[in-house]
Amino acid sequence: MSSRWKAIGMLDSGVGGLTIQREILNHLPNESTVYFGDTGRAPYGSKSMESILRFAEEGIKFLLNNYPVKLVVLACHTISAVAYEHLKSMVDAPLVEVVGPTVDLAMKATRNRRIGVIGTEALINSNIYKKKLEERGDVKVFPQPCPLLMPLSEEGWFKEPETYSITRKYVGPLVDEGIDTLILGCTHYPPLIEAIRSALPEHVELIDPAVAVAEETSRILRENNMTTEDDSPRHLYIVTDNPERFKRVGERYLGRSIYYIRLITL
Ligand code: DGL
Repeated sequence: MSSRWKAIGMLDSGVGGLTIQREILNHLPNESTVYFGDTGRAPYGSKSMESILRFAEEGIKFLLNNYPVKLVVLACHTISAVAYEHLKSMVDAPLVEVVGPTVDLAMKATRNRRIGVIGTEALINSNIYKKKLEERGDVKVFPQPCPLLMPLSEEGWFKEPETYSITRKYVGPLVDEGIDTLILGCTHYPPLIEAIRSALPEHVELIDPAVAVAEETSRILRENNMTTEDDSPRHLYIVTDNPERFKRVGERYLGRSIYYIRLITL
């Protein structure tokens, strides 16, 4: 590695953040990335705030201490919700998180000001979407934790009838509340979009922030003169357990091959 080689760092609990990385690679094809997926301790979404904070802090320190990272993307709603403020106070590198862009998109989309949010238990318990959306205007927010959707997504059960019926069970009460906008508050959910869509009336808008996060990353790099024109960018994946599974599940989310995985112990 040359001393001038600098990468976009990405922090996630496991594989879900690859649905964000997919858009980052589409938008910034010359950038190298180092992705940290804490597969040994995932899922974060069922953990306490204290554990998520500690795990996220250890993950970002590992990234910044071991790799020349110029910016870090928190590629996870749960980490963004629970740990963004803490991590921001800790690191000098620019940090991109996913909640802000999601709130912007949802506020633009809603007409009747009734917004549903689905995500992990920790994300919903953090109340972050409710708080941030209500700060932006007179909206009513309907949160719904969906702990079974993450494993269905990792299992690749995108089209199974069981996925459709479980999704309906979670989303049905939000439909009854008359939402016209639904935030996909977990990076595992975009691959389930057909099942989620089928549980909603046609006019309900689905909000996935992946493209907006990629655009925000691109904007920060440009504004800080940190872009690269590398013809052969490298993509490295750091995991804390089971690299084989990370590759198998991850390639489905990323839509391309994963070549370099390093297994580490924190
Ligand atoms: N996909 C992550 C998110 O966006 C959560 C996965 C987990 O629970 O670790 O919140």
